[in-house]
Amino acid sequence: PTIVAVVPAAGIGSRMQADKPKQYLTIGNHTILEHTLRALNKHPAVSRVVVALHPEDTYFPTLAISQAPWLTAVAGGDSRAESVQNALHTLAAHEWALVHDAARPCISQQDLSSLIDHIQQPAFNGGILATPVRDTMKRAQTKSGSPVVSHTEDRENLWHALTPQLFRAGELLTALNEALEAGANVTDEASAMEFAGHTVRLVDGNPANIKVTRPADLPLATFYLQQGEP
Ligand code: CTP
Ligand code: MG
Repeated sequence: PTIVAVVPAAGIGSRMQADKPKQYLTIGNHTILEHTLRALNKHPAVSRVVVALHPEDTYFPTLAISQAPWLTAVAGGDSRAESVQNALHTLAAHEWALVHDAARPCISQQDLSSLIDHIQQPAFNGGILATPVRDTMKRAQTKSGSPVVSHTEDRENLWHALTPQLFRAGELLTALNEALEAGANVTDEASAMEFAGHTVRLVDGNPANIKVTRPADLPLATFYLQQGEP
């Protein structure tokens, strides 16, 4: 089956507080977006890459990678989910969409292979990279206007959802359309697939695959990228 990487890169990176969207900040010789796109294209199972850009993006055309024959750009939307929807319109329904945040440049070839290998079973409608929660997790409630502990959640069954998230393009687009229409909270692809009643495989991924979100994440991502593949 054909796997197409879909990269939402239309955000403005407000929490990063930089002078440009975070995907255009440089680590070493390349922007974060270039690191991400190159890592995805490098994997032999990925046939091409579709990137969703902010409609007023002026940075992308200045990158050498913008001319790559394996890369297509589309306009993103007001939310991450809408950016992914726009990109999915360029895929055939039977193709697999490997959706990966532009802001996660530390994705390893090993984790890409692991996700692709682990969803090859009819019991699953796709899957996501995720990492088990390590801290003790507290459910909060409000008392006298302050948060207090309601109870402790069972950590054994809690995972952090990462990307990539891999689903059939047609199933995912339908799920996103329905979940957004219903007003569901769609913060990743899996949440739309869950809403549709599909089974999403959790694949244990490397916690180094961080989303660059706040300024302190930049030196961390730089460190992980310099480490290279294990
Ligand atoms: N994204 C997108 N379209 C949007 C919003 C976000 O394609 N309308 C992308 C971002 O570019 C990023 C990924 O979704 O690669 C994850 O989003 P996030 O980390 O929240 O990035 P931003 O929205 O840019 O950052 P912030 O929320 O701090 O403004
Ligand atoms: Mg955001």
